[in-house]
Amino acid sequence: MPFKVVSEREVARWSALHEWIVVDTKARAEPEDLQELAAGCNLMVLPTVPDSFGLDALNLIVRDLRRLKIPDSKYKVLLAIVPPPPNSFGAEARESLPAELLFQTTIPRAVVFQKAVLDGVSVGAVKKDRRAKEVSRLYEELGREIIAHLGSQQ
Ligand SMILES: Nc1ncnc2c1ncn2[C@@H]1O[C@H](COP(=O)(O)OP(=O)(O)OP(=O)(O)O)[C@@H](O)[C@H]1O
Ligand SMILES: [Mg+2]
Repeated sequence: MPFKVVSEREVARWSALHEWIVVDTKARAEPEDLQELAAGCNLMVLPTVPDSFGLDALNLIVRDLRRLKIPDSKYKVLLAIVPPPPNSFGAEARESLPAELLFQTTIPRAVVFQKAVLDGVSVGAVKKDRRAKEVSRLYEELGREIIAHLGSQQ
């Protein structure tokens, strides 16, 4: 992997040596966890599959974030596993959510992600899959959006 992966317990040791720290969480964080997660990071990325399960889960989490008075600028939604046309779930989800809540970048559904899991590599490093470069570029794009968003906060 082109980045170091450590457990939560090792973060204290490694955080001082790295500029960017990405924390992965369990599927649905409880309100107490959300409060701490928000306090401990600059931006929460809420990956959401644009179907009824995904959107219901997102609504619950956004409701909790609002109740906890977490500022809107602390979280943003990434539409992911977006099915290809003619399916329009991705576009419909985008229309149903406030524009400021959404990253411009969306991640399409692609088999290359399953291959990456099997091969134990990041998507860009999957061999013989025509979408590997495309989707890894989209994640780079997302990275640039995140950096721009953080820059606009200061
Ligand atoms: N864009 C995508 N297209 C197709 N499959 C995907 C995509 N993104 C993730 N997946 C697949 O979905 C599965 C779960 O992905 P991932 O571990 O990122 O999800 P998660 O929500 O973090 O799961 P968990 O709740 O277990 O932590 C993996 O098999 C992965 O290959
Ligand atoms: Mg996970």
